[in-house]
Amino acid sequence: MRDKWSSKLGFILAAAGSAVGLGNLWKFPYEAGSNGGSAFVLLYFIFLILIGIPLMLAALTLGRKTKKSVFGAYQSVDQRFSFVGALGVIGSFFLLAFYSAVGGWVLYYLKEALLNAFTTTNPDVLGLKFSELLNSPLELIMYQGFFMVLTTVIVLRGISAGIEKVSKIMMPALFIMIVIIAIRNLTLPGSFEGVKFLFAFDVSKINLDVIMNALGQVFFSLSIGIGTLVTYGSYLDKDDDLLSSSIIIPSIDTGIALLAGLATLPAVFAFGFEPTGGPGLMFITLPAVFASMPFGYLFSVIFFFLVFFAALTSSISMLEIPVSYFIDEKNTRRLPTTIVLAIVIMLLGIPAALSIGPTEAWKSFAVIGSINIFDVYDQFTSNVLLPTGGFLLSIFVGHVLGTDQAIEEIESSGVTFRLKGIWSILIQYIVPAFVGLIMLNSYYELLL
Ligand code: PHE
Repeated sequence: MRDKWSSKLGFILAAAGSAVGLGNLWKFPYEAGSNGGSAFVLLYFIFLILIGIPLMLAALTLGRKTKKSVFGAYQSVDQRFSFVGALGVIGSFFLLAFYSAVGGWVLYYLKEALLNAFTTTNPDVLGLKFSELLNSPLELIMYQGFFMVLTTVIVLRGISAGIEKVSKIMMPALFIMIVIIAIRNLTLPGSFEGVKFLFAFDVSKINLDVIMNALGQVFFSLSIGIGTLVTYGSYLDKDDDLLSSSIIIPSIDTGIALLAGLATLPAVFAFGFEPTGGPGLMFITLPAVFASMPFGYLFSVIFFFLVFFAALTSSISMLEIPVSYFIDEKNTRRLPTTIVLAIVIMLLGIPAALSIGPTEAWKSFAVIGSINIFDVYDQFTSNVLLPTGGFLLSIFVGHVLGTDQAIEEIESSGVTFRLKGIWSILIQYIVPAFVGLIMLNSYYELLL
């Protein structure tokens, strides 16, 4: 029999676990930091409500209606659209390949935090430390491998006994930890600057780049466009309410992203560091922040545990996409399937992990133009695949499956869908039009 969630709460925590990840803790604060702070946050909210939430409902509905992994879900409704499911399965390999590289860095930093290695407040020294890691192939492979092993061990136990069980422990723990760090941040003298930066609104900061980044962040953060939600939705029972799930999961995700902003940016300001540190914010600026803070050791350990939990509950959802595909469509067994897929993904991930070291030795890995493999995977999945997958999902549910059928599925659990008129218009016209435009623009930028 096909595995399924053992409780609604378990499903919500697992799906929120997929959504809450490096996207919230690593990307959101630095994207906000480099994209004009509140301007980014405001756009994020608009896209969340008009695009993210409607698409999440569409994905969960498609999964539950077909009870199939992402490939089978599209295929069983219309054969011609199987390619959308295939894109998701293939994409998940590349997504996890680079995600696990960052997961490896997180594990390394967790170890460093435990060993009390962040003793300098000088970002230059910490920057050097980060680039040392990026230039130690053995260490990179080892930590990435360790992260993949942990991901595999959970996924091979299946939905209720693996993914759900772990999420039920890790998600509440994550919540408690982030609240502790945010309170610590907000009680630092001078921290209010960081809060203002996140919430004080300035229209003049909005431009096309900020719009694109905010939309990309909605897709990435909600795990939309690659089949995770279709897959997770397929393990739901007919009497589970999809409407409340589509509100609760994004709310948890956004709440944690904002908390992550509050757990990082106020301290960055309080100690006089720059909020525009980009991807290095977590690995360079924050260790300096912790070293400046009273009881910094304790907070750095809590922080990197938090990031690690968040990354792991997301990586398992990525691995589940191809695993469920092979089990459903090729009748393979979960244990060997999970192991073999994890090995293949690890092999794809190693070049990504090695490709960002700034020294010449690894430059040869940077095959495609001036961008390295890590960025190719990252940009291909985040900027191309997720928006394209989201676009095709809206076309599919809006016009191929049809909103009437989708609404019938949503209401089959006994709820009345009051906003069905608005949702239908969003899914049929507004979402595809808007996402389509942004998608074309990102193709265009990529080809430049
Ligand atoms: N939402 C996850 C995060 O924020 C990333 C993710 C994307 C997970 C797509 C699954 C699918 O880190």
